[in-house]
Amino acid sequence: MRPAMPRSTDDSRLNQLPESVRAHLQERFQLVVPASSSAVKPVPPRPQSGSPEVFGATVPTGVPVDVPAAVPSGEAAPTPAMVAMEKVEKIYPNGSTALTNVSLTVNQGDFLFVTGPSGSGKSTLLKLLYGYERPTAGEILVANEPIAKLRGNKLAMMRRRIGVVFQDYKLLPRRTVAENVAFVLWAQGFTRKEIHRRLWPALKMVGLQHKAQCFPDELSGGEQQRVSIARAVVNTPPLLLADEPTGNLDADNSLQVIKILKKLNSIGITVIVTTHDEHLVRLSNHPVVQIKNGRLHYLVR
Ligand SMILES: Nc1ncnc2c1ncn2[C@@H]1O[C@H](COP(=O)(O)OP(=O)(O)OP(=O)(O)O)[C@@H](O)[C@H]1O
Ligand SMILES: [Mg+2]
Repeated sequence: MRPAMPRSTDDSRLNQLPESVRAHLQERFQLVVPASSSAVKPVPPRPQSGSPEVFGATVPTGVPVDVPAAVPSGEAAPTPAMVAMEKVEKIYPNGSTALTNVSLTVNQGDFLFVTGPSGSGKSTLLKLLYGYERPTAGEILVANEPIAKLRGNKLAMMRRRIGVVFQDYKLLPRRTVAENVAFVLWAQGFTRKEIHRRLWPALKMVGLQHKAQCFPDELSGGEQQRVSIARAVVNTPPLLLADEPTGNLDADNSLQVIKILKKLNSIGITVIVTTHDEHLVRLSNHPVVQIKNGRLHYLVR
């Protein structure tokens, strides 16, 4: 048994990271790394009464991306779009066409599966939604923000509201499970007290409290994927994008991951999941779209 946090995080050293490393971390993990220790710390989302409780905190409302507020009985609930894509086209610089004329609306609180064969454009769709790629044509709104037009700090602030789960996990290899998850909060300026308050419920949600002090290479693939889910949602983003989160997992682990995503959806988080796995999709009662040769079709509404 290793002692707790053997490779401890030294905030002051992280604060001294060169700009190129910061940019890399930001790009790779969708993190906002403080520019320097003297930089103005961003204010964490302010909890509001009536918001769903998760990870010992409330899902933020009243910030760029919202979860639906409670609606008085008798009134029709508004379902503003979380994602609105209109005639989107993506052609990569090498001439490869990834998406053609894609229009898609995903409302707040929806759970959407995106299926399609390899190379059809699923990852490209998600990359456009978190602003990693920009469309060649068309409009994309994420929580009413034109994400493709955002730059610098505005894009970074927007990405804080979007949790991303990657097929290959992208965990920091030299940091423990707890540190991997806490790092997101630290980088966003949450206080130590708030980090502690959110960390354990997030690890509990993915069933990994007992692995908190392990390093990624001491975990199974399914466990690593669950850490990456905890990391993606620990700051309670209202939108979660998961790119093939079950791609490397066996049937049992895949079901467990989908169950966790559904649980997150049930507390108000809008979830978009790409998958090759037709079996998983058939088991679900959620809407399904298919991308084929860059074109999007509804399979189940
Ligand atoms: N950075 C890139 N530069 C050039 N072409 C790219 C780039 N990324 C993806 N493509 C091309 O765009 C198309 C869609 O790729 P994408 O990764 O979105 O597919 P996918 O559906 O996610 O596939 P998979 O199921 O294998 O992950 C493919 O033809 C791919 O070769
Ligand atoms: Mg892909």
